[in-house]
Amino acid sequence: MKYTVLTLFPEQVRSFLETSIIGRAIKSGILSLDTVQIRDFCGNSYGKVDDTMFGGGTGMLMQCEPVYAAWQSVAGSDPEKRPHTIFLSPKGTVFNQQKAMDLAKYPHLVFLCGHYEGIDQRVLDTIVDEEISIGDYVLTGGEIAACVVIDSISRMLPGVLPDASAYENESHMGGVLEAPQYTRPETWREKSVPSVLLSGHHAKIIEWRRLSALYETWQKRPDLLDRQVISASDWEILLEWKEENQKPNFQPNFQP
Ligand code: ADE
Repeated sequence: MKYTVLTLFPEQVRSFLETSIIGRAIKSGILSLDTVQIRDFCGNSYGKVDDTMFGGGTGMLMQCEPVYAAWQSVAGSDPEKRPHTIFLSPKGTVFNQQKAMDLAKYPHLVFLCGHYEGIDQRVLDTIVDEEISIGDYVLTGGEIAACVVIDSISRMLPGVLPDASAYENESHMGGVLEAPQYTRPETWREKSVPSVLLSGHHAKIIEWRRLSALYETWQKRPDLLDRQVISASDWEILLEWKEENQKPNFQPNFQP
């Protein structure tokens, strides 16, 4: 996978993505990251890339030509080889795990990061394939959003994490949150691990994790359950757990 980020702040993007797991994947050649400084394409000697808005309004807007020239330096002029281009913006489709999985299929992704009050619409209409938001709030620029999107795509690419099961069972992968997880000691400050997890009974553990994932989702993100089909017998257990949850130190559990 190749990523190119068009930005006025390449250091911000590089310092985030060249650290930790993604940084290691870049060093080992599983991923490549290029940043392009849009200011290098300003066409004037003082590095100006923005101007006031037609029709009035506060703040400055990034102009078409520097953005287009920066993009073209990456995309070239062959429309067949045009890379998939994403504009990060609070007006975009809200990013989620499914979108991360879809984007992971492209060989090359270009991310355009806006600053100031935004970017002239004409160049967006010319080069952007999709507009993505990372949530319903406004950031100072698209760089953090690009890093979020790149991080979540990259961890699904073969070789980035030590083992695919590290992400296959986690929250949002099957449209639900993951089950609670526990490590040693078995009892910590009078709180014990659900006994089924210590039973060694593999099938029961899998079933407990499946139901606990549904329970966790029901309690924390009930909106996600709209897309799940839950059987009457599953609901019976979930309702029973919900009732027991009123008691102190409740753990959803099965008899091992
Ligand atoms: N730029 C500013 N706010 C943003 C957001 N919420 N998502 C993506 N890009 C942005």
